[in-house]
Amino acid sequence: MADGCELVVGADGQIGRALLARLAADGRPAVGTSRRPGGAGRPLDLAADPASWELPGRVSVAYLCAAVTSVEACRRDPAGTAAVNVTRTLDLADRLRGRGAHLVFLSTNQVFDGAVPFRREDEPPRPRTEYGRQKAAVERELLAAGGATVVRLTKVVPADWPLVRGWAEVLARGEPVEAFRDMVLAPVPLDFVTRVLARVGEARPGGVFHVSGAADLTYADLARRVAARVGAAAGLVRETSFADKGLPPEAAPAHTALDAARLRDVLGLTAPAFPATLDPPAGRAA
Ligand SMILES: NC(=O)c1ccc[n+]([C@@H]2O[C@H](COP(=O)([O-])OP(=O)(O)OC[C@H]3O[C@@H](n4cnc5c(N)ncnc54)[C@H](OP(=O)(O)O)[C@@H]3O)[C@@H](O)[C@H]2O)c1
Repeated sequence: MADGCELVVGADGQIGRALLARLAADGRPAVGTSRRPGGAGRPLDLAADPASWELPGRVSVAYLCAAVTSVEACRRDPAGTAAVNVTRTLDLADRLRGRGAHLVFLSTNQVFDGAVPFRREDEPPRPRTEYGRQKAAVERELLAAGGATVVRLTKVVPADWPLVRGWAEVLARGEPVEAFRDMVLAPVPLDFVTRVLARVGEARPGGVFHVSGAADLTYADLARRVAARVGAAAGLVRETSFADKGLPPEAAPAHTALDAARLRDVLGLTAPAFPATLDPPAGRAA
């Protein structure tokens, strides 16, 4: 390919792995990077000396999936995580731009404060968490430099989400589960997310896109949905608070769902209202 391969940075992660598999299945020349010794793909540890990064000579599209994704890790070590999530990510972006790449940066609803639902793509970021601040900082730089598309995601859920599978198994045995009454999610299927990213890589539209479930629900609501599907009593879902787990208030924004108008209007894509895989067939453990 004259303009080079596609590069999935962070191909061992949940999204990077699934994206690389999708690109390969679509017959697109794509390679991944890994920070793991002997890992699949080109060695690239954002925490290591950039001289150790082995980048392809020409890159058409680079999907920046690698990051320290734990909100708690970012809170505890803002400087160390910012070195990876901001400084080195921007350094890598510069190098990839120099190799011809359009940059696709995976960001988060946490660039907003969560005070109101359905923030639009053009509303100014207002993060409350260190993780959100780091993402907003990278967004700002990449958008200012151009040649980049920012894709903000709400909660991405795989088809066989261990949380839901575990709940289904416990509830099906008639045993209780605990779930937060005061933490919400707007789940979006992993499969849809990789479809969006692959489409963004083709269209290279630039600007900001939101990928969001249709609405927020609490984790307790989700657990009751699972209970209903496996024929368990809703009362088996015991509501707890995130505060009981020692989590700070900013870990649980009141709203996470985003307005995804640009995704619909520019790319013609709309997320399913609710991931079908979180509603397994009745009577079967998820
Ligand atoms: N999943 C979601 O719900 C969600 C929502 C909003 C935004 N996002 C964003 O989407 C992107 C991908 O998320 P994900 O769910 O796939 O996260 P993930 O499963 O935690 O994957 C993150 C990847 O980054 C890699 N990584 C961490 N530190 C690194 C370093 N120093 N150098 C190189 N690679 C490093 C990890 O490597 P190892 O595998 O070796 O640990 C892992 O492969 C992230 O930027 C995340 O912030 C995700």
